[in-house]
Amino acid sequence: MNNGCADESLALLSDAVREPWATSVLHQRLGANLWRVGRQTEARDTLRAAMRKFPEDLKLLYELAEFAEGEEGLDLFLLLLRRAYGFDFGSVANEQHRAARLDHSARDVVYLALMRSLTCSKLQLAQQLLDVFRRDLGVTSAYLACKYVYDKVSGSSGHEWLETGSTSPMIFDLDGVDLARLLPADMVGNFDQQLREDLAAKVPWRRIYPGSEAETWRTDMRGLMNVQSRPIMAFQRLAADCVAKYLKLRRREVADLLMGKKALVLKKCWANRGTHFADLTSHIHEGVVSCVYYPELPPDLGDHDQDAGSIEFGRPNVPLPVEFKITVIRPRERRMLVFPAYAFHRIIECKFDRPRTSIAMEFHGQAPAAAAS
Ligand SMILES: [Fe+2]
Repeated sequence: MNNGCADESLALLSDAVREPWATSVLHQRLGANLWRVGRQTEARDTLRAAMRKFPEDLKLLYELAEFAEGEEGLDLFLLLLRRAYGFDFGSVANEQHRAARLDHSARDVVYLALMRSLTCSKLQLAQQLLDVFRRDLGVTSAYLACKYVYDKVSGSSGHEWLETGSTSPMIFDLDGVDLARLLPADMVGNFDQQLREDLAAKVPWRRIYPGSEAETWRTDMRGLMNVQSRPIMAFQRLAADCVAKYLKLRRREVADLLMGKKALVLKKCWANRGTHFADLTSHIHEGVVSCVYYPELPPDLGDHDQDAGSIEFGRPNVPLPVEFKITVIRPRERRMLVFPAYAFHRIIECKFDRPRTSIAMEFHGQAPAAAAS
């Protein structure tokens, strides 16, 4: 039923982009929709054709670079860096990039160019990109994720601690924890139920995978911030307590990201709820430390494929010629996972009869002056 709607929408978009008035945005929408329904080759061809029609459109160039594979993707991101920021990374002899500076808006482009240069085993180029990333944008979670992969692919031992399992999360099982210290008395016995009720009633959700049968929903990345809900606010205090313990025990893992900042502040808090999670590529978060918690899990979790619906840590988001240490953790009720923001992670594909709900958070470093005020 829904697939019929998706087909109809694709047919309308395909007709529209043939018109002389068709905009670049229309081509991008068709490309994105084709990609979403698994027609990757057609999505790339659509954007390549659009590039010929709108050669100056940098947003379109970004979209095509994201969809392209291997060296084509790398070349397109390098072209984007040259056109948008005046950086010429194509030639090692070219010194142009030393005079130019990157600004914060370049971060995603440099990150994606870096990961693709590592996929193509272009280590000299990757080193060049890493140097400029650090010089102009500082040590961020994206920089550390790339550095982690670079050290592994190049065989360098510069960041040994990144190789010793620090990207795997710290597990806090709340059973047996003195919740009375952290939760209002009326919540201690039925905290998760109250959390589920307010997630259903007080939080704005939007459907993901539109056009598919999957009943899966997501909130805005800050969708659980500033919500008038005692259980959600209590949950955030609970998470902050786990993060404080994580920092005490594993400060070394996030020392580069902390950069002398003593306090962390919750910047993003969002939720996913659904019966079907597919095509979820590995990714990293921003900030210093992240958490994830499971207020609702399907009873048949692990019955069929024991890893379905689990969270996997350590696998980078591009294919690479080396093996990484992979950690798979099955969600459990009353389980909080805390991990460094640079840790690659993904949900393993799953399809259940009942929903799997997770809440995720990002804690960012707070500058000392702001922390003192
Ligand atoms: Fe995530």
